Amino acid sequence: MIEAGLSEFSKWLAATPLSHTIQTAGWIIPTLQTIHILSVAVVFSSAILVDLRIWRLLECDVPLPEVARRFLPTIWPVLLILLTTGSLLIVGEPRRSLLNSTFYLKMALLALAVVLTVGLQWSLSSAPEFWEKDRGRRMAGRFAASVSILIWCCILFAGRWIAYY
Ligand code: HEM
Repeated sequence: MIEAGLSEFSKWLAATPLSHTIQTAGWIIPTLQTIHILSVAVVFSSAILVDLRIWRLLECDVPLPEVARRFLPTIWPVLLILLTTGSLLIVGEPRRSLLNSTFYLKMALLALAVVLTVGLQWSLSSAPEFWEKDRGRRMAGRFAASVSILIWCCILFAGRWIAYY
């Protein structure tokens, strides 16, 4: 039922003038993919650098809130670029993503990553010592950072996997 609806929607989307333009102009898809992957690099590295700082694996001499202030705000505008380029890639080849369960897995993981990142940013802006107050907090922070690294890596795999599944 849902699959039939998505299939109909994909058919309609593929017949729109915008989709036709994306499909026929040979440069659009490679350009969108290039912008998408460069944006992936920015978002992924920003999130991972903060997670590694929580593990005290880098920038140990810089306070965690300072590292978070340096890297986390970059994520939000670049996510908008990812959303735009990703959506245009879908418009160009709707069936490839909209009928692909890996695509929905990637979106669900992305929602989780966003919730974790917002939580981290919010906790540090409301209490700079939040994750370093005592041993329990430090362990919880390391656990959250490990989950965050895992989720971002799974998003990368899922993004690449869409082409093969
Ligand atoms: C914000 C919403 C996003 C949308 C709507 C979206 C959508 C897409 C689409 C449609 C593709 C093309 C898949 C294909 O046809 O092979 C793609 C590729 C990919 N995406 Fe996203 N994406 C988004 C965010 C992200 C994020 C946050 C990451 C990782 C941090 C990511 C990582 C990737 C990767 C690694 C690829 C494969 C690129 C390639 O091999 O050319 N995406 N995405």
